[in-house]
Amino acid sequence: MAIDNDRLLELANEYGTPLYVYDGDLIEKRYNDLINYISWPKLKILYAMKANYNLSVLKLIYSLGGWLDTVSPAEILLAKKVGFKPENILYTANNMTDSEVDDVQESGVLLNIGSLSRLERYGKKYQGSKVCIRFNPDVVAGAHKKIQTGGKLTKFGVLLEDVDTVKSIADTYNLRVIGLHEHTGSGIDDTNAVFQSIRNLLSIAGRDNFPDLEFIDFGGGFQVPYHPEETRIDYGKPGQKIGTIFSDYCSEYGRELEMYFEPGKFIVAESGYLLVTVNTLKDNRGRLIAGTNSGFPQLIRPMFYEAYHHIANISNCDGKHKNYDVCGNICETGDRFAEKRAISEIREGDVLSIENAGAYCYAMGGVYNLRAMPAEVFVYKNEIKSARKRLTNQELVDTIIGECEWLQNL
Ligand SMILES: Cc1ncc(COP(=O)(O)O)c(C=O)c1O
Repeated sequence: MAIDNDRLLELANEYGTPLYVYDGDLIEKRYNDLINYISWPKLKILYAMKANYNLSVLKLIYSLGGWLDTVSPAEILLAKKVGFKPENILYTANNMTDSEVDDVQESGVLLNIGSLSRLERYGKKYQGSKVCIRFNPDVVAGAHKKIQTGGKLTKFGVLLEDVDTVKSIADTYNLRVIGLHEHTGSGIDDTNAVFQSIRNLLSIAGRDNFPDLEFIDFGGGFQVPYHPEETRIDYGKPGQKIGTIFSDYCSEYGRELEMYFEPGKFIVAESGYLLVTVNTLKDNRGRLIAGTNSGFPQLIRPMFYEAYHHIANISNCDGKHKNYDVCGNICETGDRFAEKRAISEIREGDVLSIENAGAYCYAMGGVYNLRAMPAEVFVYKNEIKSARKRLTNQELVDTIIGECEWLQNL
């Protein structure tokens, strides 16, 4: 464990709970790991900022030389504020609106378009522009059905068999297709599925179809172990194989293209901890319920994806293990971080650490029941920095009434 339990407990005491803590050193390590795994000289890592857009994380990725995968105009604004250049950002939203497309085009960021009708509208308005096309790799993989983005049941990307239509739209409007993209899913534990998606995309990426290519983007989806019994994939060998597949493809294409990957989870998931305090214990005829001061709006993955997050009682690491339902403070029965989970004995006042909380946790958060999101703290090279404060109740209420003048005098 990178940040040990004693340190987490100190942070909980200093900043209060609920509290998110991020380990910047681990983010840096994972970023470098990936670069070392994938053997391709022109490799670019476009961090999927939707996973965790805390400024401290973005600044670190920027300082490491990373690029960004973005999905909304506000993400682009934030990215630019950090210093990312438009040419180092790709825009891969789905169901884009016309005004959103205009904003992104104006910002100088390359659009990655995943539907024929949007491509047609884009071509009409922005004739002669550069563009990237998102294809559906036709491979179904990912840790849960809600995070599988390939195959005909998903809304993402253009079907591979529609490649001729893509070409004809591009020809009609003189569009320069400089990139092709696919993203198969998140938390893919089957590297064969990854190779298959890569091959499927490359099968339509020949020079006769797309003569102007500068890069191919194979998305994110690198697996991170969440459960202690889940094995960590060593991406060394798969990374070499990807290099070989791509090298063969580039030889045939006649030019060495850039290879992009867009990891989110792999870079940040393991760096994060959500620290919560147990304030209410119940023994419901033998079913032990530990009630905490956080809830699913602050970390939704268990409720949304049945995701496992390891939970440690950092106030009593050596206690006797008992099975607990670890619940939140939200008025919903499903508001649970874990069910019948073996955890060292919990007492009221104990602090629990919910691990692997760096990706799609704070970022997917909200203020349901009007409880403000936790503060965030960033630990890097032995320095501890506050990375975002928690709104006070008054500030939270002010965000609701602030803009509606006609309601303010009620
Ligand atoms: C287009 C795209 N790229 C990259 C990612 C990042 O995936 P992961 O966090 O699993 O690496 C996602 C996740 O949803 C995505 O939709």
